[in-house]
Amino acid sequence: MMTRRAASAGLASSALLTVTPGLAATGSTVVELPPPRTEGGKPLIQTLKLRRSIREYSDQPLPVQVLSDLLWAAFGINRPSGDRTAPYWRHIMVIDVYAAMADGVWLYEPKRHVLHPHSRADIRAQTGLQDFVANAPLNLVYVAHGERMRDISANERRLYASVDSGFIGQNVYLFCASEGLATVFRGAVDYEKLNRTMQLEADQFVTFAQTVGYPRG
Ligand SMILES: Cc1cc2nc3c(=O)[nH]c(=O)nc-3n(C[C@H](O)[C@H](O)[C@H](O)COP(=O)(O)O)c2cc1C
Repeated sequence: MMTRRAASAGLASSALLTVTPGLAATGSTVVELPPPRTEGGKPLIQTLKLRRSIREYSDQPLPVQVLSDLLWAAFGINRPSGDRTAPYWRHIMVIDVYAAMADGVWLYEPKRHVLHPHSRADIRAQTGLQDFVANAPLNLVYVAHGERMRDISANERRLYASVDSGFIGQNVYLFCASEGLATVFRGAVDYEKLNRTMQLEADQFVTFAQTVGYPRG
């Protein structure tokens, strides 16, 4: 069986399988991601030793298999019950994970492991206040459904949605550490502007963003 690393290297060398051209061609249709590879990776303790924030990115796109694996690790389904790789508040699905890439913004749907086109605009530069976000291949944007968090205050909504996002963010950190990818979880975001740019519904709000790519140099 091909190891995860060998498979990544093979995919990375194939221009056809890079995320940008592969997804851009699909127009407004849903994109099926390849099944995530749920075996292998570095041992946990080694991964914890490697976990860190990185802020210098190559503009090399992520192969679609790596994107698939990453999204599954972030908040994919890991049990027949439909529950996720990250814990979540009151068993209510509050957070959606969006992928902002050069070819547009995509909403990850864990149930079918697909990407829904959200917008064809390249909004990477608007996902944060730091320069590297514009050229890194992927910025994950964590968006909360406030309307699903009934009977609690706005502050509590922000709190629990932030905690849910933090767990997802740590999954992304660990996946990236295991795979030799760079990532940084980010709160330096112009939230009003990004909510507007993404044309979110009135009760939806961005909690955090997280850049992912290959380290530069
Ligand atoms: C809630 C939160 C918000 C953060 N926001 C940013 C940010 O906007 N920009 C950034 O470069 N790093 C951000 N970070 C990353 C931290 O700066 C980083 O984790 C910390 O300096 C420790 O470094 P390490 O992750 O390499 O261990 C954030 C981390 C957390 C937990």
